[in-house]
Amino acid sequence: MSHGEAYQCEKGRLPDAVEKAALYQKAGTQLAALLEGETDPVVIMSSVVAVLHHTMPHYFWTGFYRVTGDVLCVGPYQGTPACTRIPRGRGVCGTAWLEGAPIVVEDVHAFPGHIACDARSVSEIVIPWKDRNDNVVAVLDVDSTLPATFDACDRENLLALADQHRLG
Ligand code: SME
Repeated sequence: MSHGEAYQCEKGRLPDAVEKAALYQKAGTQLAALLEGETDPVVIMSSVVAVLHHTMPHYFWTGFYRVTGDVLCVGPYQGTPACTRIPRGRGVCGTAWLEGAPIVVEDVHAFPGHIACDARSVSEIVIPWKDRNDNVVAVLDVDSTLPATFDACDRENLLALADQHRLG
């Protein structure tokens, strides 16, 4: 893809770098207003997912997997039905949980152990989400139908949202 070229995806045109940054700013402003003073984790997670999914044209599937014992349990999410439980260390989500670090995957088929919930997903980003004690209590998973959709701009903006909207 040449610089500035726009791919088409199901939800519209992929944003270029400038548009992407502006969209994250818009989503961040909306979430700050919606979640001011909010402490309920379900309200926070469902609002983050809804705002991001409906703001970002390059998001195909958007959702949380919550740490529940030694597995991740899906939800809240927006998109097609997804795998319900992911063990620690398995797939992109379980690996991001284990490592406590974000993972950007340009081609899911090249990621060992990737878990395919929808065959249309081609690239992916996973962001660990913490509580106020810095424990990872969930991961945010976003899939795209196009390769190499997510980059440092997505990672840094999502990490900032995770810091601003901690769970518990
Ligand atoms: N691909 C993820 C599984 C979740 S779905 O993408 C919604 C993984 O490998 O962990």
